[in-house]
Amino acid sequence: MKKISIIGCGTIGTAIGGYIEKKFKGKVGPVLLYDQDASCAQKLSSIITGSKIAKDMKDAIKNSDLIVEAASASAAGDVLKGVIDAEKDAIFMSIGGLLGQESLLDEAEQKGIKIMLPSGAVAGIDALKAAKISGITSVRLTTRKPPKALTGAPFILEKGIALDEIKEETVIFKGSASEAMKGFPKNINVSALISLAGLGPDATLVKIVVSPAYSKNTHEITVESNAGNFLMRTENVPSPDNPKTSYLASLAAMATIDGYFRNVRIGT
Ligand SMILES: NC(=O)c1ccc[n+]([C@@H]2O[C@H](COP(=O)([O-])OP(=O)(O)OC[C@H]3O[C@@H](n4cnc5c(N)ncnc54)[C@H](O)[C@@H]3O)[C@@H](O)[C@H]2O)c1
Repeated sequence: MKKISIIGCGTIGTAIGGYIEKKFKGKVGPVLLYDQDASCAQKLSSIITGSKIAKDMKDAIKNSDLIVEAASASAAGDVLKGVIDAEKDAIFMSIGGLLGQESLLDEAEQKGIKIMLPSGAVAGIDALKAAKISGITSVRLTTRKPPKALTGAPFILEKGIALDEIKEETVIFKGSASEAMKGFPKNINVSALISLAGLGPDATLVKIVVSPAYSKNTHEITVESNAGNFLMRTENVPSPDNPKTSYLASLAAMATIDGYFRNVRIGT
């Protein structure tokens, strides 16, 4: 029986834990939980039958077959190093934390370690991956959010933008994914994912638009390639218990766990 550990027991980790309990109870070994805030791991443990709390991150990695990282960008690098050393498979949600770690991803590839990056809050990674084989000429991301979603972002502070004074649809930022990730580090997962799947962070173009009329986070990915052009749009509903995390992101992690255990796979 495969053993799963969850590192980071917040919104996504808890949703995944609940899913494992519902779908894989009795089919996987005891689930191991680790969170830097012990109370979060304890709370999640109470809803997963037979689950155990790991001593630390190393313990969680060493004693499981599949590690699900749902902690933070800064934890993701440590988890990646840990799973490569221990030769364990892993699913990463904090994809921004993997940028700059491409040599470790290559090492995982060479060692036969499965590293899975769910599509998270966006659609279209399947088409992007397929189109890449033909040659991609352009990848553009337009993200639309309510102004308050960008509160505290370094770019907003540096430019002295008064988010609460924005009354209409406004383009706040246009630049490369690398620049977007520096200016908006808490919103980096989508840019990081499409950069890793497509043309890299310097050649991926990002536009961030805000409006007080937006109630949902929307992502549009436009791809031009030798196989044709695509426009993928996702209008995300927030997670029921954390408005900052798109519901689709938790669901994408669940679908990735399903895929890990399946022999018949549908979609690219
Ligand atoms: N790929 C995507 O589309 C996508 C979408 C949303 C969120 N995310 C990312 O997934 C991660 C989890 O998101 P969330 O909404 O569940 O966040 P959350 O804040 O609800 O939960 C994160 C949990 O991880 C714990 N944690 C943080 N750093 C840790 C560390 N170093 N070691 C152990 N535990 C640690 C925290 O205590 C917290 O309980 C974040 O990095 C977030 O950016 C990815």
